[in-house]
Amino acid sequence: MEENGRKILVVDDNVDFVNYVRRALNHKDYKISIALDGKTGIEKAAAEQPELVLLDMKLPDLPGEVVLERMKGQDKDLAVVVVTGYGGEQVAIDMMRRGAVDFLSKPVEPDILVRAVKNALTIRDARLEDRQFHPYPSLEIFFPFLAHEIRNPLHAIAGALTIIRKRSSPEDEYLSQSIKIISEEVDHLNNFVQECLNFVRPPNVVRITRIDPGEVISAVVGLISQMFPSESGNIRINVRIDPELPKVYANYEEIKQAFLNIVKNGFEAMPNGGELSIEAFPSSGSPGNIDILFRDQGTGMKKDVLHSLFNPFFTTKPRGNGLGMALCRRIVVERHQGKIHVESEENKGTTVKVELPAGPHPGEESVS
Ligand SMILES: Nc1ncnc2c1ncn2[C@@H]1O[C@H](COP(=O)(O)OP(=O)(O)O)[C@@H](O)[C@H]1O
Ligand SMILES: [Mg+2]
Repeated sequence: MEENGRKILVVDDNVDFVNYVRRALNHKDYKISIALDGKTGIEKAAAEQPELVLLDMKLPDLPGEVVLERMKGQDKDLAVVVVTGYGGEQVAIDMMRRGAVDFLSKPVEPDILVRAVKNALTIRDARLEDRQFHPYPSLEIFFPFLAHEIRNPLHAIAGALTIIRKRSSPEDEYLSQSIKIISEEVDHLNNFVQECLNFVRPPNVVRITRIDPGEVISAVVGLISQMFPSESGNIRINVRIDPELPKVYANYEEIKQAFLNIVKNGFEAMPNGGELSIEAFPSSGSPGNIDILFRDQGTGMKKDVLHSLFNPFFTTKPRGNGLGMALCRRIVVERHQGKIHVESEENKGTTVKVELPAGPHPGEESVS
C-alpha cells in the first residue's frame, strides 16, 4: 500500500505530544494536520477528509466519545485510533466498541505509533475494498450481529432450562437426558458465537507486551488437558523449550488462542492417542525471531484439505466450525507479522510451524 501523503489528523491539546507525533511520522511521508480541541477536530475532519484520526480522549472542550461519534457520523470508514493517558484502557476499549480501530496509551513509543498507524490504515483500506467488491456486509459486520441475535435467545433458553431442571424429578431419566442434551447444545452454540466474535475482534484490544513463549505454551498445555480430560490419558504431550528462547513482543491472549487452536486440532486428529510434541527455539533465520513446532501423530490431511485449511468455515469435522485455523492465521500472520507453515501426511501426522517475529522492540524492557 502506498503510504505517501496519507492524510492523518491529530486531535490533541498537548502541543508536545502533537509535535512528537509529527516528528515520529514525518519520515514516513504522512500528511499531518493538527487540531488542538474537539470542535476544531470535527470541523477539520469534515473539511479535510483525513483517512485516519489520532484522537486524544481528554480534550478541553468535548468528551472524546462525542468527537468520535461525530467524526464517524461524517465518514463511517474513517480509521480512528484513540490515545489515552496512563490507565485509560477501559475507556479505550469502550471507544473500540464505538468504532475506533485501535488505541494507544501515552507515552507512545515511536515504533508502536508507526505500527498502529499502518495497521489502522490497512484496516481502512480493507474495509473500503470490501465495500467495493462485496455488496453484502463483511464478516466484521455480520458476526457481531449474528452473535447478538443468537445470544439473547440462548440466554433465555438457558434460564428456562434452569427452571425445568429444578422442577424435574431426578428419577425421570429421559427428562434428565434431554436436559443434558439441550444444555450441551446451548454451550456449543455459545462457543461458536464466541469464536465468531474472536475472529472479527479488532486487533490489540489487549496491548502488545513482552511475553515468554514458554509460558504461553505451558498455559496452553494446561488448558488442553482440561478441555479433553478423557483423551488426555492416551495422548502424551512432550514440550521442549530451548533455554536460549528469547521473549517476543506480542499479544499474550491472542497467541495463546492461536496455539490452543493448533493443539486442539492435534488432539482431535488423534482419537486413538499418540504423541503431541511442542518445541520452541530461536529461529535459525532471523535473530530475535522464534519458531514453534507443533507435531502430532494423527490422521494427517489430504492435499485438498491442506489447501483449504485456513479458509474460514472450512471443516471436515461433524461438529467443527472451521474457524480455528482461520483465526490462527489472522493472529499470527496479520496481527503479528509472523508465518505459519503446515506439513501433513495422511495417517502419519501433521506439523504446524509458527514463526513469530521478535516484535517491535527487541532488546527493550518496557513498552508504552
Ligand atoms: N492437526 C491436524 N490434523 C489433521 N487435520 C487437521 C489438523 N489441523 C487442521 N486439520 C484440518 O483442517 C480443518 C480446519 O481446522 P480448523 O480451522 O481448526 O476448524 P475445525 O477444527 O473446527 O474443523 C479441520 O476440520 C481438519 O480437517
Ligand atoms: Mg480446530
